[in-house]
Amino acid sequence: MNIILLGPPGAGKGTQAAMLVEKFGITHISTGDMFREAIKQGRELGLQVKAIMEKGQLVPDELTVAVVRERLARPDCENGFLLDGFPRTIPQADALGGILAGLNRSLDTVINIEIPDDVLQSRMTGRRICRQCQATYHTLSNPPKHTGKCNKCGGELYQRSDDSEATVANRLVVYEQQTAPLVAYYCHKGVLKTINGNRELQEVFNNICRAVSGV
Ligand code: AP5
Ligand code: MG
Ligand code: ZN
Repeated sequence: MNIILLGPPGAGKGTQAAMLVEKFGITHISTGDMFREAIKQGRELGLQVKAIMEKGQLVPDELTVAVVRERLARPDCENGFLLDGFPRTIPQADALGGILAGLNRSLDTVINIEIPDDVLQSRMTGRRICRQCQATYHTLSNPPKHTGKCNKCGGELYQRSDDSEATVANRLVVYEQQTAPLVAYYCHKGVLKTINGNRELQEVFNNICRAVSGV
């Protein structure tokens, strides 16, 4: 099962991805998580992307595509993968088509999570993430059992540096300009399914499961 989760920042891609990869036994590939990990480890890639991410802009296509090309070729993707936050531009989508053709694979479903802008603002400003295991919480809709601590591993929760109000606004503009055209792109390819993301977590999950299972 090869899936893309498409949708604006804060739509719930990462949250749903964690549940989907567990249910279907496929590999989660989040370019945002990979970039954040590179920054944390002080790698060359991290130095290249840090300032760009903090402004809410997109990392150049060439760099992003190289990271995904290398990741998709690894053996743990052979049983299926879920792309979260990639592709984000038409050139990235074209490049992905080429990478998959080279690996003799194809996309099964592109899930487009739709959600109004005003909901996205509060989703992102209330988001908290575990420093150790990357589990995602929300101060209002999905709070941890103990404030500031991860339910799963006890790790410290932090706020992403690009979740400030000003950067969030910029990320939404960037999404509209550069990523939203992918909805029509994948619709033309006949693989797009749109899901209402402005529902309770479990309901969104059930609807995505139905969409990827083709029922
Ligand atoms: P990335 O990490 O991909 O961020 P994003 O796309 O902006 O998406 P988010 O992670 O902010 O949101 P999400 O949809 O995962 O929502 P979540 O599940 O956390 O990218 C970050 C940056 O990296 C980019 O700006 C760019 O600079 C760079 N980058 C990454 N990929 C790139 C690419 N391909 N090309 C170029 N640059 C790239 O949920 C949000 C909150 O809502 C959480 O608190 C959660 O608990 C809560 N929530 C989730 N679902 C629900 C629900 N149903 N009801 C109530 N609350 C909910
Ligand atoms: Mg995410
Ligand atoms: Zn944790």
